[in-house]
Amino acid sequence: MVCYSCLAVGIAVLTLAAFLLKRWLQADGDLTLLWAERWGKKPEKELPGKVVWVTGASSGIGEELSYQLAKIGSLLVLSARRENELERVKKKCLEISSLNDKDILIVPLDLTNRDTHQSATNTVLKHFGKIDVLVNNGGRSQRSLFMDTQIDVYRAIMELNYLGTISLTKYVLDHMTQRKKGKIVTMNSVMGIMGAPLATGYCASKHALQGFFNSLRPELYEYPDISVINICPGPVQSQIIQNVFTEEIPKVNKNVGDQSHKMRTDRCARLTLVSIANDIMEAWVSDNPYLAVCYLWQYAPTWAWWLLNRLGKTRIQNFKSGVDADVSYYKKSS
Ligand SMILES: NC(=O)c1ccc[n+]([C@@H]2O[C@H](COP(=O)([O-])OP(=O)(O)OC[C@H]3O[C@@H](n4cnc5c(N)ncnc54)[C@H](OP(=O)(O)O)[C@@H]3O)[C@@H](O)[C@H]2O)c1
Repeated sequence: MVCYSCLAVGIAVLTLAAFLLKRWLQADGDLTLLWAERWGKKPEKELPGKVVWVTGASSGIGEELSYQLAKIGSLLVLSARRENELERVKKKCLEISSLNDKDILIVPLDLTNRDTHQSATNTVLKHFGKIDVLVNNGGRSQRSLFMDTQIDVYRAIMELNYLGTISLTKYVLDHMTQRKKGKIVTMNSVMGIMGAPLATGYCASKHALQGFFNSLRPELYEYPDISVINICPGPVQSQIIQNVFTEEIPKVNKNVGDQSHKMRTDRCARLTLVSIANDIMEAWVSDNPYLAVCYLWQYAPTWAWWLLNRLGKTRIQNFKSGVDADVSYYKKSS
């Protein structure tokens, strides 16, 4: 005999499961992040009037973050090495917002030149009197096989992505602990969670940052109003592939390829602002299939390693034959 109520419950459960699966496949962030985007605090309410220092503001994600922050009325500190590019970003920020010239401070900064980080912090404090948010965004990726890469390249990656970031954080955190308030935001990567061939040094630097900030957070237990936020994007449209480290420090990557399959820069910046407004400790900002791999890496690492070995082989073969590794990797895996 058919139990109609059981049948109805079964159909409802299957429909819900199908709906959730579809939503999950279309997701471009982890569940906490997307929940916060819909129901949580709005960046437009949380960030106006806040002093936000963005490193790596001269291109890519940092540039777009600066535009979105300017539009919602945050006061900005723009840092990177190329001052002329920072002037261009500042000009556009002023055009698209109601900020005044004095609301945006340019502080040229080389993250690898750690001797300058204290004076840069003092310059910001002299101008604005406080720093509410530091966005550690400046950094470079890598495209080379370990066995072909000089060890100097590994040193340079760690100097920039890891030591440069924690050095600036130290000076800014000194101010934030005195104020008992602030947010330290770091643009990590899904490569701070998983591994990827051709990026051994980059992955190591992002894993180092992940370990560092996840350990710093509990050290700040006496400062409940200081938050440590790690953003982990998957592939995002930017200048990152043009600027990657290769086998040797002076060698430039010429194989840039198509970026159209990557997440749009404005979407990555928006989800970053949502994470900042809601103090999300770790946010995965990525489309599928990379988002699915993050879940796999977190909850079923043995399967993740098996998958990575298979996909990684294709990626390396493409790289060796001169095809852009990312695009063909994506096409094969999607
Ligand atoms: N795009 C992605 O797919 C992706 C994915 C995950 C994570 N990320 C992370 O996002 C962050 C931003 O990268 P992006 O994708 O926007 O790449 P990008 O367009 O190449 O921007 C990198 C920024 O870092 C700055 N920078 C490089 N070397 C520096 C140094 N020595 N000192 C100070 N600033 C330096 C660059 O400015 P100057 O050259 O003017 O110094 C530039 O503003 C990086 O940390 C990256 O690891 C990117």
